[in-house]
Amino acid sequence: MNDRFLRALAAEPVDRTPVWIMRQAGRYLPEYRALKERHGFWELCTVPELTVEVTLQPIDRLGLDAAILFSDILVPLAAMGLEVEFRPGPVLPDPIRAASDLSRLGETEGCALYGRVAEAIGLLRRELDGKVPLIGFAGAPFTLATYAVEGGGSKSFSAIRALLFGDPATAHRLLERIAVAVLASLRAQIEAGVQAVQLFDSWAGLLGPDDYDRFARPYAERILGAIGDAGIPRIYFAPGASSCLERMRTLPVEAIGIDWRIPLGEARRRLEDRTVVQGNLDPGVLLGSREGIEERTAGILREARGAKGHVMNLGHGILPETPVENALAFVETVHRLSGQGGEQ
Ligand code: CP3
Repeated sequence: MNDRFLRALAAEPVDRTPVWIMRQAGRYLPEYRALKERHGFWELCTVPELTVEVTLQPIDRLGLDAAILFSDILVPLAAMGLEVEFRPGPVLPDPIRAASDLSRLGETEGCALYGRVAEAIGLLRRELDGKVPLIGFAGAPFTLATYAVEGGGSKSFSAIRALLFGDPATAHRLLERIAVAVLASLRAQIEAGVQAVQLFDSWAGLLGPDDYDRFARPYAERILGAIGDAGIPRIYFAPGASSCLERMRTLPVEAIGIDWRIPLGEARRRLEDRTVVQGNLDPGVLLGSREGIEERTAGILREARGAKGHVMNLGHGILPETPVENALAFVETVHRLSGQGGEQ
């Protein structure tokens, strides 16, 4: 079995650097687009056979070292009873704006939606048959609260900011409720067989370090700590939040994801090499030339030399416009260079 990814996360020696790609199953793949002509995005997330098919699409084609469950971070908000649509960006038509809206949120323990995800995980473990490990994931409470309050993506994020600073008690009550739903989701995924988890705190970068410590970190910490007894590696990723790296280094995790806005070496220094690092090629580089991809990838492998451990990835999700051959060039470059003692 290919356990490079799990070995790197355990800070054990590897024959070459493991690599996977955030959003590796997605619109840049023609076979994904073909499936999307017949099925909606939510269907792909909730019909186990379809979830399995999409999750596996990039694995053989690209030679990746891990599969990531095809799903979305907004599943727990839907499980709590909020309406969630994808057009293709997420839209929540009835956002949470005030204390009185909290009563619309239900419990998720044992819900049908998590059951369907668990079923897909069971099927995937059988299909993968040890070929590569399967990653589960969830959104961190701060990021999910941002979606719940904004009702979707945003440029100014005024609604979540108004709640955080105008009515922090309600913000904390919302974060508490979401944390319970996220923890239940991760526990269900772990019980069903995922072999690593990643917690995405995609909007934590909205916050300055002190507010990060107030509204984001404690909820992520509680969830990551609570799943510690499962004994599987935990990755935390908060793109755009490198000003908070010092605050992340004591999180109960095995690895921290690094976006491309900070050199990997600098991130390692600020984390004091206490954790394994994951990343951090600018997804935009995959829109450029093969030479550029090779050069930048080699640069990251150099910056990772001597790290506690390194998992190669992009610094955020792969862009839908990426030519498949460029994604392949990235993976092949990692295989070739890191196998020559390029990193270890
Ligand atoms: O990495 C993978 O291959 C697993 C699949 C995955 C998806 N979403 C599929 C998806 C994962 C890990 C996510 C996580 C997710 N979802 C995050 C955290 C990662 C990040 O980007 O910071 C966030 C913020 C979301 C919320 C979300 N869902 C957004 C912003 C969008 C629109 C994305 C876009 O490119 O337009 C979605 C929809 C979504 N989730 C798509 C996919 C493949 C596109 C839907 C489509 O095919 O039309």
